[in-house]
Amino acid sequence: MGLSSEEVALVRDGCLGGKALSYSPYSKFRVSCCILVSEGGRYTSVVGANVENASYGGTICAERVTITKAMTTAGTRDPTKWIALGIMGDTDECISPCGLCRQVIREFISPKMSPDIPILMFNGDGTNHIQSTMEELLPNSFGPECL
Ligand code: THU
Repeated sequence: MGLSSEEVALVRDGCLGGKALSYSPYSKFRVSCCILVSEGGRYTSVVGANVENASYGGTICAERVTITKAMTTAGTRDPTKWIALGIMGDTDECISPCGLCRQVIREFISPKMSPDIPILMFNGDGTNHIQSTMEELLPNSFGPECL
């Protein structure tokens, strides 16, 4: 079943608000991410943003910050309750997750962990998005069910 327009709007709004959480003094490239969780007819948005580091290499992307936040918060750490993951930057074009983040997202969007939830990649003001599946973003991938 696809997402409703209300659900897409919740993901978009989470991403729009999440950009203010970005700590990106080096690149000045803000990225936010929102995982929409649905349980018992109630929605929870887990929102995060990129956190950069003076070493540069220690930088953590928005997607990994948000997944880590969801997985370490009591009410949101069950990926079977996740229904969408959104990403947004300040770009005119829709943003696309980096390779490392694709692998980390893949851990939790897998036959063993969760439903095949949509990944929404927004442009900077949230007026446009591309919807993808994990298989499209990382085909023939390695995941928990491979072990
Ligand atoms: N960034 C993300 O947060 N997610 C991505 O998928 C791509 C890149 C961040 C990392 C860094 O803080 C900035 O964007 C520039 O690469």
